Amino acid sequence: MSTIFVIHENDDWLPPFAEALDAEGVPWEDWSLVEGSLDLGAAPPEGVFYSRMSASSHTRGHVASKDYTRSVLSWLESHGRTVVNGRRVLELEMSKVDQHAALRAFGFDVPHTVAVIGRRDLRERARGMDLPFITKHNQGGKGLGVRRFDRYSDFDDHIDGPDFEHPVDGITLLQEYVHPAAGYITRVEIVGGEFLYALTADTGSGFELCPADECADDSGFELCPTDAGPAKGLFHWREGFDDPLVGRYLEFCRFWDIGVAGIEFIETAEGRRVTYDINTNTNYNPVVEQEAGRSGPAAVARHLATLARRLDAGQLAGSAG
Ligand SMILES: Nc1ncnc2c1ncn2[C@@H]1O[C@H](COP(=O)(O)OP(=O)(O)OP(=O)(O)O)[C@@H](O)[C@H]1O
Ligand SMILES: [Mg+2]
Repeated sequence: MSTIFVIHENDDWLPPFAEALDAEGVPWEDWSLVEGSLDLGAAPPEGVFYSRMSASSHTRGHVASKDYTRSVLSWLESHGRTVVNGRRVLELEMSKVDQHAALRAFGFDVPHTVAVIGRRDLRERARGMDLPFITKHNQGGKGLGVRRFDRYSDFDDHIDGPDFEHPVDGITLLQEYVHPAAGYITRVEIVGGEFLYALTADTGSGFELCPADECADDSGFELCPTDAGPAKGLFHWREGFDDPLVGRYLEFCRFWDIGVAGIEFIETAEGRRVTYDINTNTNYNPVVEQEAGRSGPAAVARHLATLARRLDAGQLAGSAG
């Protein structure tokens, strides 16, 4: 059977996928893209490639991983390899501006957002935002740079103060604060063109709500809700979520050839459903998965194994979702 190559940069996030791929009985290889080299004259190995490169790779000191992955995916696709979450999807992962543009063009309700490149326009552009508003990094992940401001003067103090974090790509987003009426956001998990489940994340205790990375500070994986700790209880299966929005997300993923994603939205008191985040290296929370009775890593492994079988049967060409 064809080999599955898992492209990533975070060893801590790999074990659930390693276990699931082993359980699926498929040969697979770990391609950790942190530092290395690439012979552009060589042909890549045959197989199915799955990228779970993360937008927050730089926070782990892996500053070259983004461009390393861009290079590798371009090379793979130029050889017609089957890639799940390929070159174009990487750009969505790395840029919330890209996500916003793609979501808006598809007809989703998106939060009013201004991208500020560099620092010069921050203060002036903030004055154009209704209060409250939030900031976030364009290349985000684990809630990087997400802060709420209720007064313009607080924002001024913040950008001049020591807590201001420079976004790695120089782009800070100023975004409409969308109040979650019921106190939670919803994330819709999609694997291989199918809806897996939806989960809620309580918003009462802050903004850094990646379900496997609530440990968003430097303490690393130990505090991750995948184990327990303070984040336990923040995330729950959204039972019976059966909404036309799911079908629209599936269409969106088909259009962009996104194989694996968690898409987040907020419901307001006025009945708006505002989509604000696409995670294409989604991590899965065991508490939620126990409640839902479904496993993200198992679904991903099954999807990749199916593609490998189709590749072996000569049924695949080019990239696949
Ligand atoms: N426009 C908004 N209005 C209100 N709350 C928001 C808004 N955007 C984001 N949030 C809150 O901040 C959290 C983090 O924001 P977002 O998901 O955009 O950042 P991220 O860096 O991609 O984080 P993650 O990797 O945890 O998904 C969200 O889960 C949500 O609770
Ligand atoms: Mg998010």
